[in-house]
Order: sequence, then C-alpha cells, then structure tokens
Amino acid sequence: MTKLWGGRFKKGLSSSAEELSYSMEFDKRLYKYDIRVNMAHVKALEKAGIVTADEKEMLLTALDDLLKSFESKYMDQDLPDEDIHSCVERLMVEACGDLGKKLHTGKSRNDQVATDARLMVKDELEKIDGLIVAFMKSLLSLAQETTSLVFPGFTHLQVAQPIVFGHHILAYVEKFKRDRDRLKDSYKRANLCPLGSAAMAGSNYPLDRDLLAKELGFSGITQNSMDAVSDRDFMLETMSGLSIAMAHMSQLCEELIFWSSPVVGFVTIGDEFTTGSSIMPQKKNPDMAELVRGKTSRFLAGFVGLHELMKGLPLTYNRDMQEDKPYMYESFDSFKLILRCFTEMMASLTFNEYAIADSLTKGHICATEIADYLVIKGVPFRDAHEITGQIVQFADQESLTLDQISVSKYQEFSSSIGEDIMDVLTFDKAVARKNVIGGTAPEQVKMQCKRLIKELT
Ligand code: ARG
Repeated sequence: MTKLWGGRFKKGLSSSAEELSYSMEFDKRLYKYDIRVNMAHVKALEKAGIVTADEKEMLLTALDDLLKSFESKYMDQDLPDEDIHSCVERLMVEACGDLGKKLHTGKSRNDQVATDARLMVKDELEKIDGLIVAFMKSLLSLAQETTSLVFPGFTHLQVAQPIVFGHHILAYVEKFKRDRDRLKDSYKRANLCPLGSAAMAGSNYPLDRDLLAKELGFSGITQNSMDAVSDRDFMLETMSGLSIAMAHMSQLCEELIFWSSPVVGFVTIGDEFTTGSSIMPQKKNPDMAELVRGKTSRFLAGFVGLHELMKGLPLTYNRDMQEDKPYMYESFDSFKLILRCFTEMMASLTFNEYAIADSLTKGHICATEIADYLVIKGVPFRDAHEITGQIVQFADQESLTLDQISVSKYQEFSSSIGEDIMDVLTFDKAVARKNVIGGTAPEQVKMQCKRLIKELT
C-alpha cells in the first residue's frame, strides 16, 4: 500500500511494524469527521487560491459521495491504509485522480487528527447530554412519587435520621447536575478548531482559519499551533468528568444493591434488570447495578491511562497519541449504554413500605429529635445530647424503642420533658420539621422537584 510518506524510504514497513502502527481498526469511527474536515479544508484552499472554484466543486462532490457511501462500502472491510486520513486521501485520489492529490495541501495529519478528535468528542458529549437529561428526568419522577415516603437516612451506614426517599433521590439529581455542568465545561474547550496548525508550526498557506472553524461548527480557533497539535486536554477533561459521574453512578448502584438485599428489602428492582442463579432458585440478583459499579473502574483506568499517555510527551505531536482514542470510545459507549439502562431501571423500582416502616423502628432514628426537643425546652444542646444518650442506653438495655418508653420514665431523665415528647417521635413530624431550604421536609422536597424540573426543561 502506498504511504503518504514513502518518498524518502528505500524499504517498506515490515509487516509486524505495519500491524503495530496501523490504526484503521479504531480510526474508522472517525470517518465522517475526517471527511467533513476535508470538505472545510477544500473551501479554505479555494479561498487561498490553491484550487479553482471548479476544482473545489469536484472535490466537494467526491467528498460528499464518500460521506454517503463510506458506511456501507468500507465499514466492514479490512482496509489497507495506515489510518483514516490516509484512507480518505487514497479514496479521493481514486475518485478524482491528480486533483485528489491536492487535498492535503497546507494541512498535516497532526492538525487533522486533533480536529477529527475534537469533532468526535463534541458529538459524543452532545449525545451524552441528552441521555443525562433523560436519566435525571427519570430520577425526578421517582423523587416526585416519593416526597412523602419516610425512609431511614444513614451515615456510616448506621441509622441516622428519618428522611423522605424523594430527598435521597434528589441528592443524586444534584450530583448528576454537576456532572452535566462539568461535561458542558469540557465541551467549551473542545469547541476550538486546530485546523491550520498543520504539522506543528502553522500552515504555509493563507488559510482562513475562521472560515474553517465556522464550516466545522466550532465556536472559535486555537491560538498556538504547537499547543493545538499536542493538546489532548479536551479528552482528559472529558474522561475526568465521566469518571466522576461514574463515581456517582457507582454509589447509586451500591445503594440499590443494599436496598434490594432480602435482609433489607426496601426496594425491588424490576425483573427486566435483575438475573437469577443457576443453582439457587430463589435468587434475584441486582447484576446491572453490580456491573455498573464494576465498570466504574474502567472509566477511571481510562482516565489514568490517558493521563499516563500524555504526561511525558515533549511538544508537539508524538505517535504515542494515537493510543488516545480507544480510551475515549470505550468510555463514551459504556456511559451511553449505562445511562439508557439506568433511566429505565430506576423507573422499574417498587418499594416495600412494610420493610421500610419496620426499619424505622430500629436504631433509635429519632434520638436527635429528643435532643432538639430538650433544646427547645431550654436545655443547652451539649446537656441535651448527654441526656438523650442516657435515654438511648436505657432503651437498649430494656430492648425498647424510644416511643415505647413512658412519659414518666422520660421525666426521670429530665424534668424538662413533658407529655408532648411523644410528638417528636413521630417520623412524619420529624421529617416535616426539617423545613429549611435543602432539608428533607416534604414541602421542601416538592419545591426542589419543581425547581429541578423547570431547570431541565
Ligand atoms: N493515526 C494518527 C493518530 O491517530 C494520525 C496522525 C499521524 N501523524 C503522524 N505524523 N504520523 O494520531
């Protein structure tokens, strides 16, 4: 196969070196970006006087044909080219003869691959944004349905305070909202066009870089050719954003696994998202949640891999950088699939209200309410905490729940306690009292749902 760079060599590449260096396998995925970059470049070449208006039209028509036919003609084929840039150029020479050979004037594969990659990242981020929104909407409808479902809140996985389930889910909506913002921010920096940087020093031809950027839908152009061909920050930032989003996804998975364990039994995940066991007939395993928790490590590995790839490279382009794309593809594909699956899976959850209510009787979940009650009655908080600790100790000794202790017994611990103590031990009232912005009171949670829905639409 003729190379783009054969002139100065007496011998061709050995077959093992070819196998090692050819990137066609994963480059195919860039074909539409590569062709679009060539289309924009042809327009800039005409403006710079390198090709005539007629030549431009011929090249554009051939590129357009290639864009339309590449998928069906070449996608499944074993192509002989070194990379997608060589492939498109070969096919253009085959289609346009000598005119096709003018295509690479004033550009290099170095600025071309950087441009292709930015277009690809932007495209994927746009798709991902839509999927995150759908996922957040599914979390939001779950939150709306459960604004009054009192649920145990934990710290250290020890019973802490009663909350409503909707509040718990909105915590994730906030996390994914930040993830979305982070990815949008990466998008902004990916949205600059490096074309015109050529190999590394800038193009010898008066290419209109603003025209190139506009043609390709970039918001602006890069300002230093050496930076432009060596920069993969837009990939690193994206991978970092995806890894953080996956950390959140993995936390949600961990909770789903916990909530759906029969010993806890709060939540049932729909049959469509669980699996059975080949030997234990009773099993209903939360495999999707486990797999996603597991896949999180691959996102992080991808981020670390890409970081490692870049950290020791001298400016500017180095062939090492060819190894960047597989990391991106794996994370993008996996993330999109996970979002699609989890958008549906979250809608499949059902709640076992009996198990949830029963759990609220364990772990003295209203102890903090007693301490705060004492504060209202004039006891300093530190003393109130101490007194409540003694009440909890007594309850444990006697195997009682806090609401099973009589008022007169309560009064032995503090004369500030009155008949109204029983009121603070009601779960509904305990959550309703957290009526500050960001608190778990159903009134607040409903308000937050409204705000988030408005923000998303
Ligand atoms: N396949 C290469 C990559 O993905 C394209 C750039 C090659 N440039 C070069 N000077 N060899 O990075």
